[in-house]
Amino acid sequence: MPQDKKFYITTPIYYGNGLPHVGHFYSSTIANILFKYHKISWVSSRFTTGIDENSQKAVIKAQEADMGVMEYLDYMAVEHQKTWDYFNLDYTDFIRTTSPRHHSLVQEVLQHCYDKWDIYQDYYSWKYCIGCEAYKKDDELIPHPNPLLRGEGASSQLVCADHLTVPELLKEKNYFFKLTRYQTWIEEFYDTNPDFVLPHFRYNEVKAFVWRGLEDFSISRETNTFGIPLPFDTSQVTYVWFDALFNYYTSCKYSPKPHHNSSPQGEDEAALWDTQEYWSHFQDESKLFWESDDVTKVHIVGKDIIRFHAIFWPAMLASYFDLWEMWEDWKLHYKDSDREKLPTTILTWGYFTVDGQKMSKSLGNVIDPIAYSKEYSKELLGLYILSAFPIGNDGDYSRDDAIKTYNAKLANNLWNLVNRVVVLSLKLSENSWILKPRWLRSDDNIEWFSLDHPLAVKYWKYAVKIWQNIESESRWFQSSMKDFDLKFTLDCVFRLLDSLNKFADETQPWQMIKTDEEGTREVLYTLAEWLRQVGLALYPFFPEKMSEMFEKLGLKDYAKQLEAGKLHDLLQREEMFVILEKWEALFKRIEV
Ligand code: ME8
Ligand code: MG
Repeated sequence: MPQDKKFYITTPIYYGNGLPHVGHFYSSTIANILFKYHKISWVSSRFTTGIDENSQKAVIKAQEADMGVMEYLDYMAVEHQKTWDYFNLDYTDFIRTTSPRHHSLVQEVLQHCYDKWDIYQDYYSWKYCIGCEAYKKDDELIPHPNPLLRGEGASSQLVCADHLTVPELLKEKNYFFKLTRYQTWIEEFYDTNPDFVLPHFRYNEVKAFVWRGLEDFSISRETNTFGIPLPFDTSQVTYVWFDALFNYYTSCKYSPKPHHNSSPQGEDEAALWDTQEYWSHFQDESKLFWESDDVTKVHIVGKDIIRFHAIFWPAMLASYFDLWEMWEDWKLHYKDSDREKLPTTILTWGYFTVDGQKMSKSLGNVIDPIAYSKEYSKELLGLYILSAFPIGNDGDYSRDDAIKTYNAKLANNLWNLVNRVVVLSLKLSENSWILKPRWLRSDDNIEWFSLDHPLAVKYWKYAVKIWQNIESESRWFQSSMKDFDLKFTLDCVFRLLDSLNKFADETQPWQMIKTDEEGTREVLYTLAEWLRQVGLALYPFFPEKMSEMFEKLGLKDYAKQLEAGKLHDLLQREEMFVILEKWEALFKRIEV
């Protein structure tokens, strides 16, 4: 088993009332990349995703489709999993909130919070948007942006800014969660955790909201019938958000066997994979992903659901885990030792528009990631959204830009270079072996080879630059992964590829080959070695393509070793490259 340090990453659980779109694809992709990166770095890691099922929207959709609610949700769960399996996402657990394990956990939580008086009964009348599954205050509503739909005078009604629908007016007996009790606790928690919400400008919005004063919120619905019954009043079901947030904990506490996509970490683990011992060990380990220190827990969420994650969620956990101390002022105070029961980071992203237009399920102009990848390439969407927008910002998706980015970075920058190495080395000999030149061997010290060997003198002025450049880019790469700055990571890798291409242009191995075989081998080795490093850096982003590249460069079992946590070994390894034949393009140019 990998080391004690643990990494837990989650996507939101998506509403099961539609198929995954590019907004969902985005968070699942980020989660998968960060998961893979930690996994290959010998960190014990967990990645969960799933669907949010106890929502009124699903009931309505099922009726429209003339299906039973469970029948509809079973179908949706399969469709969602099919999408993530198609993209080979390596999730550990796919969680459904209609599952018995989730029901019993949520009921346990509710009973505990009720027993300690954090839940009480009251009546209210409020505006509720089903699209958001959230209560709306008047200042959160807007006049319809289209004047024709706005209505006149008394018939003009304010609409939800996200869904452009008039909220329902609800008047019910409900149970409330005493969020107001946690006002001081939350403020102190924020003070001691400056990176709790990333990026920081989103954190500031959350703090400003909290400083205006929290209000208790309703955690049940009287009129809905589909959902988790309150254990202390079965005539009501749990408000969908109260139940949904707990999925992150359910997954650890009641973990099923890891999903078939995920591979064992290490050979020891592989041998045990199907045994009962392994299974109970896995369950014990899974619990530790929530309830121990040394776990980095990251929730990835869109900007529309930050408040639920950054305010309600910690307060609900504080209530359930009794994470507070009461001082003389009768307020609850945050205790630093409670940190391990709370998420580490809420990593937030913005909204995509498509060619300037808002995109959402309710509006019907969604990009289907599978259709896109079948039409163009599996790697296009991920590459584009990650390299075009820093995580946290809004972004406007444009098909033309996506194709341009793909062609420039993957088809030209990366594949052309790989292809040059392949073609040239096959010109040298039929089964081409590329070995480290003698003057580069036995010492990794850059100064050494630039000064010493007679052969080095020929190419050193390029080579030194390249090797130094790459050393620093790869340091950047490592630290940007830790900061979740995936755009920066990709930028580093593609800058590195730019300098490799430049190196090839300057040394001109295709000329050199006519007169100087030794020299050509040196250039090819430098290129191949740094392509290997690029492959390791890009593996979390494009595991299938990079595995293919490794195999064809003669780097045996790289994917297997990476999945077993051996990134750092491989980074330092000295390799020989064996190229046996020309390849099909790894990334085909897309013509428009
Ligand atoms: O919110 N661009 O589920 P959801 C970028 N079930 N992201 C977008 C987007 C867009 N155009 N449209 C939606 C839920 N998203 C809850 C989560 S977690 C305990 C419960 C994002 O299916 C959106 O920001 O409506 C949200 O974070 C995510 O997709 C899931 O949306
Ligand atoms: Mg939504």
